[in-house]
Amino acid sequence: MTGQPVLEAAVLEIDGVGLQIGGAQILRDVSLSVAAGEMLGVIGPNGAGKTTLFNVISGVLTATEGVVRLDGREVTREPIHTRARAGLGRTFQTSSLFNGLSATENVRLAAQVQAGGATRVTRFPRGSDDANRVAQDRLAEVGLASRGHALAGGLSHGDKRKLEIAMLLAMEPRVILLDEPMAGVGSGDVPGLMDVIRGLHHGGRTVLMVEHHMEVVMGLVDRVAVMHHGELLACDTPQKVMADERVQSAYLGATA
Ligand SMILES: Nc1ncnc2c1ncn2[C@@H]1O[C@H](COP(=O)(O)OP(=O)(O)O)[C@@H](O)[C@H]1O
Ligand SMILES: [Mg+2]
Repeated sequence: MTGQPVLEAAVLEIDGVGLQIGGAQILRDVSLSVAAGEMLGVIGPNGAGKTTLFNVISGVLTATEGVVRLDGREVTREPIHTRARAGLGRTFQTSSLFNGLSATENVRLAAQVQAGGATRVTRFPRGSDDANRVAQDRLAEVGLASRGHALAGGLSHGDKRKLEIAMLLAMEPRVILLDEPMAGVGSGDVPGLMDVIRGLHHGGRTVLMVEHHMEVVMGLVDRVAVMHHGELLACDTPQKVMADERVQSAYLGATA
């Protein structure tokens, strides 16, 4: 605990979080408060601890020091599914689609898990249920309404990422963690994907996004958190972060 005041509107608080694995200190004393509806970029060189931070927030890993709170409630040691039920959703750096199923079926599965748990997936009628409606709505929200019948495996990288976001939306998250959503996406698909991410935010959701591409982050987010060697180097508006000398030498210097 760092003793910082708890912000009333903070939907996510990371307070003095550390992670030790074996002898290695992967995260060190990370404190960050994210307001409801905020869009936060997370940048930093490879190996800085960005994905690990998302893992500690979502419950894939448990912090060895400090506290994680969702809506003011401590979830530091809660499992992934409890945090998901509390409204936390994430995408992974690598794809998690069922390539042999259609786009609609992928989102349907996510909606069915949300509605009734994974074991009931096969018992939903196929034709005209709630899950189908949710799937259509979510596909439309990410701009894939006309691609519903396409096999997920046949979509472009950009559309795959949109489909992953549609699946995430079917889980009805209020706080969304996106880990390098532009990874592997052709430059022609980047603006469309940025629009989808902007839309998540305008829908009132809180978004945290790890992104390597500075120009993408800077054009989207309210604040930028800079990770370096497992520590939070700075967290401020894009303009202030860009002007920060420590950030320039540590991050920009390291990747130049
Ligand atoms: N489960 C783990 N066990 C041991 N080391 C890990 C584990 N997860 C991540 N690391 C190490 O932690 C550091 C940060 O990794 P990561 O969070 O993936 O960085 P980033 O996403 O910023 O590129 C790296 O040095 C990585 O090798
Ligand atoms: Mg990573």
